[in-house]
Amino acid sequence: MQVKFLSLIILITFTLKCIGQNSVTKPEELVKTGVYYYPEQWDKSQWDRDFKNMKSLGFEFTHFAEFAWAMLEPEEGKFDFSWLDEAVLLAKKNGLKVIMCTPTAAPPVWLTQKYPEVLLVKDDGIRAKHGGREHFSWSSKKYGELSEKIISEMAKHYGNDSTIVGWQIDNEPSHYGTVDYGEEVLKHFQLWLQNKYSSIDSLNFAWGTTFWSQRYTSFAQMILPNVKTNVQQVNPHALLDFQRFNAFECSKFVSFQAKILKKYIDSSQWVTTNFMDFHSKVDPWLNDKDLDFLAYTMYPVGGGFNNMGGVGEQSFRVGVPNKIAFANDFFRYKKKFTAVMELQPGQVNWGLYNPQTYPGIIRAWLWSAYVGGSKLICSYRYRQPLYGGEQYHYGMVGTDGVTPNVGGREYGQFMKEIQQLRTQYKPNNKIPQEYLQRKTAILWNWDNYRVTEIQPQTNQWNPSKVIYKFHRILKELNCPVDFISEDMDFASYPTIIAPMYQLVDDKLIEKLTLYVKNGGHLVLTARSGEKDRNGHLWEMPYGKKIETLTGDKLLFFDALPEDKLGTISMNKKTYSWNNWADVLEPLARTESFATYNDQFYKSKSAATLTKIGKGTVSYIGVDTDNGAFEKECLFQMYNKIGIRVNKLADGLMLDWRDGFWVAVNYSTNHQIKVDLPKTAKIIFGKKLLNPAEVIVWE
Ligand code: GAL
Repeated sequence: MQVKFLSLIILITFTLKCIGQNSVTKPEELVKTGVYYYPEQWDKSQWDRDFKNMKSLGFEFTHFAEFAWAMLEPEEGKFDFSWLDEAVLLAKKNGLKVIMCTPTAAPPVWLTQKYPEVLLVKDDGIRAKHGGREHFSWSSKKYGELSEKIISEMAKHYGNDSTIVGWQIDNEPSHYGTVDYGEEVLKHFQLWLQNKYSSIDSLNFAWGTTFWSQRYTSFAQMILPNVKTNVQQVNPHALLDFQRFNAFECSKFVSFQAKILKKYIDSSQWVTTNFMDFHSKVDPWLNDKDLDFLAYTMYPVGGGFNNMGGVGEQSFRVGVPNKIAFANDFFRYKKKFTAVMELQPGQVNWGLYNPQTYPGIIRAWLWSAYVGGSKLICSYRYRQPLYGGEQYHYGMVGTDGVTPNVGGREYGQFMKEIQQLRTQYKPNNKIPQEYLQRKTAILWNWDNYRVTEIQPQTNQWNPSKVIYKFHRILKELNCPVDFISEDMDFASYPTIIAPMYQLVDDKLIEKLTLYVKNGGHLVLTARSGEKDRNGHLWEMPYGKKIETLTGDKLLFFDALPEDKLGTISMNKKTYSWNNWADVLEPLARTESFATYNDQFYKSKSAATLTKIGKGTVSYIGVDTDNGAFEKECLFQMYNKIGIRVNKLADGLMLDWRDGFWVAVNYSTNHQIKVDLPKTAKIIFGKKLLNPAEVIVWE
């Protein structure tokens, strides 16, 4: 009761500055749709026809030149934009705007042969060869010079053209996970370390180099940590720094390009890049200041890669329900809106297997992208390629170049619907209070991902799964979610969850404590606070560092074999686990709400809640595969603090944007009846949703 009362105060105290109202001011800004086109891959005589058909399908812009360097600069220093000019003019004639791209993802052969040092070196010491893409080094000075030339020329040429709405830098900057071990990287790494540590003694301390005689006496001795060339174990602290450095090096390349563009282009043209939706080797947030917004690429059905955990037997055609919501919430970050630069058009070619998409799901994905705050949605790609590495990858139209396939048809429907939605748009919409009070932030720092991946401690630890799981649970409880970083204002959020937050320091602990004292509700999960920012364990008993926050003594943790399940009891129900268990002993002020049911620590606590000042801290000490336990813990927590959450039907995603509610049935095995308020005015769809169906109402 008392806690319920507290939450009332919190609702008043918390300002909820976030998406409290419309994110746009004009109906035409609701979302714009476009599609990739590679003029250089098609006969010129077809361009006009293609743009005309693109426009009549409903697209508002197209996207050029991301892999066209060889055609734009056929010889060093000789630029040829004439063909691209023609394409831009034809696009304009057909009423399409254009996103222009810097072509650095795929250098021409004259470049890589004249300057082979620009190519990255793989972890086995082999230098990449010409061909393919993303095989250049972010650290290469020469590549920087050559990139600067082509980018400047393009920016000068197109920077004041009103057909160009914005720019994409490179393509999916990431090297697709390949780590560069080239000579220039080494130099940059040494410099990065020197800037970070100033003295070699500080580095020796941070890396714990007295362990196994790894001590260095100068920065010039530092090598690039490489699992491939070590016999047994690379120093984990060195690996952590190397991963931080790699993310920084990537962000530097993006930032470098953004600066060149901004020097020449008109301020009405925006600049972004198309980050992969969740990639542990890069950190898109590092570019938040350089880019006008952060955009992502999205392929929910890449057979065998990213569709584990969907709902129903046919879910391999649909994907995981929260996949797009996760990317929206992650990429909005401080800008409060995002963009989808590529969205799967249907069947692809690169999965372990490549199924057809579930009828209707592409349109549903588009609605999910819209409702999560996308400023624009661009599809990959208009025409299906007839040659090259992506044969069999659908486009909006099929191999004949004119007949819309499933993607074209479903996009077409969505784009018509968006036109209609714009006519229904009303200014000054306020987000419903009942929904807003559930707003939950996920506190995120890649370091926690990195350290737990470097030292998983059990082969069942999977940091991607952990973070996706908590996000999914929040969406299943119909909470609006923002991903936030440590430097942001916590006070805007009634609830913050910090999954697997292993690395902490006094400053963060103080900030969190203040947040809770002032009425915030914090959720910490298994593996929290174990280490300092260097990744060292604290010189004190386990759990002690955050004991005043958690209100628990952490006795030890446990992990079980894959084929053994431990059980936990909560509210007379039993849950199973085998990934991770923090075994807790609550202090006097702390309430235990779940206990281990077996093992030698039977009846010890698995989850707790403690009050501090006006707020609470919940600790969920267990990591499970199916998330059922964690979901119930969060449900209990919201109940205890008096925030009403809804358990949505399995597979339902439900969100609000700019006055419109959008519900999507991501299950493939059941219908879902959506509860609408009496005042709801349905714009599209009906209350009873079949799999992959959408309902939109205001
Ligand atoms: C993306 C990439 C595109 C294209 C697409 C195919 O990851 O950015 O260039 O390769 O995959 O699905």
